[in-house]
Amino acid sequence: MLKKIIAAGFFAGVLVTFFLLLSDISTSIEQARPAPVEVVEDRPVLQAKRKIQGIAVTAVDPTSAGRSLFTRRCLGCHTSAKGHPNRTGPNLWNIVDKAKGQAPKYRYSMQLKLLGGVWSEDELNRFIAGPRSVIPDTKMTFKGIKIEKQRLAIIEYLKTLKD
Ligand code: HEC
Repeated sequence: MLKKIIAAGFFAGVLVTFFLLLSDISTSIEQARPAPVEVVEDRPVLQAKRKIQGIAVTAVDPTSAGRSLFTRRCLGCHTSAKGHPNRTGPNLWNIVDKAKGQAPKYRYSMQLKLLGGVWSEDELNRFIAGPRSVIPDTKMTFKGIKIEKQRLAIIEYLKTLKD
């Protein structure tokens, strides 16, 4: 009986060692794989990178985070290139410091149309944070971006949309 128990214990020990070895091998294979290289357009790759909510930004290109965020959060409803058509929302070319509610051929909500003034960076920041808290009847059915860093990154990108 005792022999059996010892034998079983030994066998279990061998099994555990075997699995430990296996997992060790697979982690070293994992580590041996080259890390994916991120290329941010044609700019040098070896820039100090930081992360804003999981999006890599390079020190030289503060708009790249904004561009990715715009693509994910705004592009579904807005085009950004010059002369491109309106979608659910108006085209946003040259929107920073532009008069509100002026995209050609776009039917704005009455409230937005009557706002007047221009989209300063400050006002864009407040609007993107929660469109309905700025314009209660807006047609922009978007709950907003709560993280200020992300809003500022998007505005940096919007500022590049001009000649
Ligand atoms: C679900 C669709 C939708 C999404 C997503 C969306 N928008 Fe809009 N946006 C609209 C609509 C619709 C309007 C027109 C609002 C109105 O007339 O009240 C608008 C209006 C605007 C305006 C005012 C434009 C002008 O000409 O006065 C700005 C600026 C704007 N959106 C920015 C953004 C940004 C930046 C994002 C991403 C963070 C975004 N929107 C995401 C639908 C959307």
